[in-house]
Amino acid sequence: MWAQAQPNIALVKYWGKSDIVRNLPAVGSLSITLESLYTRMSVELLDDPGADELTVNGEANAEMLPRVSRCIDLIAGGDRGAARIQSETNFPVAAGLASSASAFAALVLATYESTEKTANTLTMARIAGSVSGSAARSLYGGFVELSVDSETIDVRPIADSDDWPLKVIVVVTETAPKHLNSGEAMIRGAETSPFYSSWVERQPEDLAGARAAVENRDFEQLAAVSEHNCLKMHTVMWTSRPPVVYWNKATLACMDAVRELQKKSEPVFFTIDAGPQLKAVCLPSAEETVKDTLAGVDGILGIYSSGLGSGARVVEHS
Ligand code: DP6
Repeated sequence: MWAQAQPNIALVKYWGKSDIVRNLPAVGSLSITLESLYTRMSVELLDDPGADELTVNGEANAEMLPRVSRCIDLIAGGDRGAARIQSETNFPVAAGLASSASAFAALVLATYESTEKTANTLTMARIAGSVSGSAARSLYGGFVELSVDSETIDVRPIADSDDWPLKVIVVVTETAPKHLNSGEAMIRGAETSPFYSSWVERQPEDLAGARAAVENRDFEQLAAVSEHNCLKMHTVMWTSRPPVVYWNKATLACMDAVRELQKKSEPVFFTIDAGPQLKAVCLPSAEETVKDTLAGVDGILGIYSSGLGSGARVVEHS
């Protein structure tokens, strides 16, 4: 049995934790779930205790294993048998493509399937989110809003992928794993960036703006809020001590290319997460032009395009 989940791209970003132990985000976020990039996970729980084993795309992976084991414990209990976990992705992992989001969303569903326990989607989203904040959103498809209070998160779809079929062009500018994971980078930002508190304070405004833009299918408004929110998050990163800079030359060249397309009135905007990849979000009419333009930028290593897709689900493995 395999569970599949797709990465999600935040347009209003999660950056900062209000509770590090419970991994509660300091801010709400709003994302779109992709369609054609995926992680598939299978979990087999053996009867006997022992060390868990994880393979990612066929290779043993010790780095992700502690978080994976902890996530399985949350569902199957700490006194469970050893787990054999297989993970497969059709895109590079650990390079700012939200691979942990799709991985933990798929892992939670695969673990439930292997234990034959059941849970509703929100319960699964809360478990996934307690391991990796952005993973909570990949349980759902389309446009997803995550809100948070002092106790827990709430996650809900606010529009379906078919309601507003945006396209996302993911431009890969580096395939090596990132130098600092987002969790550590956020903690550093909260402790050292002079802009962190205003980032947190202003987030409800951006969430309201993006939510309204989705409700009204107002692309220009979504573009304005998303780019502003992304640049504010990176400002917190850049002004952390020591600074956290994920961009490279090609990231900036891609931003420039998007700006040039916007000058020609192409309906497109960019967003960038904790990595050097740029994601261009556009209306379907602009997809080919955006893709062709970004494919011609110096220094890019790969390009993927995707529509918006559904949440985590059980799939036949081919
Ligand atoms: C920049 O979900 O990877 O992609 O909860 O520490 O695992 P942890 O963080 P993670 O952070 C994602 C940060 C982001 C923005 C976003 O997806 O909202």
